[in-house]
Amino acid sequence: MEFTFEQYQESAQAIRARLGGFAPKVAMILGSGLGEFGDQVEDPIAVPYGDIPHFRPSTAPGHRGQFVFGALEGRDVAVMQGRMHHYEGYSYQEVTYAVRVLRLLGCETLIVTNAAGCTRTDWSAGDLMLITDHIKLFSESPLRGENLPQFGPRFPDASHLYTPRLQEVARQAAAELSIPLREGVYFYCYGPQYETPAEVRAAKILGGDAVGMSTAPEVVAAGHCGMEVLGFTLLSNMAAGLQEHPLSEQEVLDAGAAAREKFSALVRACLRKL
Ligand code: HPA
Repeated sequence: MEFTFEQYQESAQAIRARLGGFAPKVAMILGSGLGEFGDQVEDPIAVPYGDIPHFRPSTAPGHRGQFVFGALEGRDVAVMQGRMHHYEGYSYQEVTYAVRVLRLLGCETLIVTNAAGCTRTDWSAGDLMLITDHIKLFSESPLRGENLPQFGPRFPDASHLYTPRLQEVARQAAAELSIPLREGVYFYCYGPQYETPAEVRAAKILGGDAVGMSTAPEVVAAGHCGMEVLGFTLLSNMAAGLQEHPLSEQEVLDAGAAAREKFSALVRACLRKL
């Protein structure tokens, strides 16, 4: 399913009608087990995805399926509590639809978060990772199909999808808070099955430090429409083949709950420094 520019505008207009002049500058997408962070937004205006024309519901566990607009650390933010994934049956245009709508609402920065499996045996489950780049080789692009030049060029540069300046902000914030922050490459696997151990070994050989089922499509769309991006991964578990017990959704959600405090302290500090 491809969308027209007018459809994105209709969605943005429907949201604007709920915001009474509030114009978010920073968008945030909260991943598995991290959605609670949206509850910290001050003077919140919640807009369920179901109320917005052309939006798809988010059906994944731990994803609430609404925007929360308001203030965080003095910034005007638009928080997505829950995202859309390809494995839910959505096309990549549907998966990234909200990013373009957020851009039309005036957001210039996107903070993305996710939970993912760790491919590095010298790191541990529970660690936080700053995403420096991603690998998304084995799936189609959200930009496939007719290009909408109102958003960006046909062949966008992807050299710095994860904005170097914002990476530096995150490093400084983590250092000030004494929160250990890994840095690495997110390897996108579209799921919904977790990876096989051989796939994890392949991801590692190709340069992936984390394997996960989200984020990369949205970041491609955000880069295309000129947004700055900051990305964090919660390494919720060791990837398949690197831990004894089978992977489970519950383990991922529990890891999110356990990391809640350090994650929210880090993201709040980044917001202050943006
Ligand atoms: N693989 C893919 N996605 C994930 C994982 C994983 O190990 N953990 C949390 N999300």
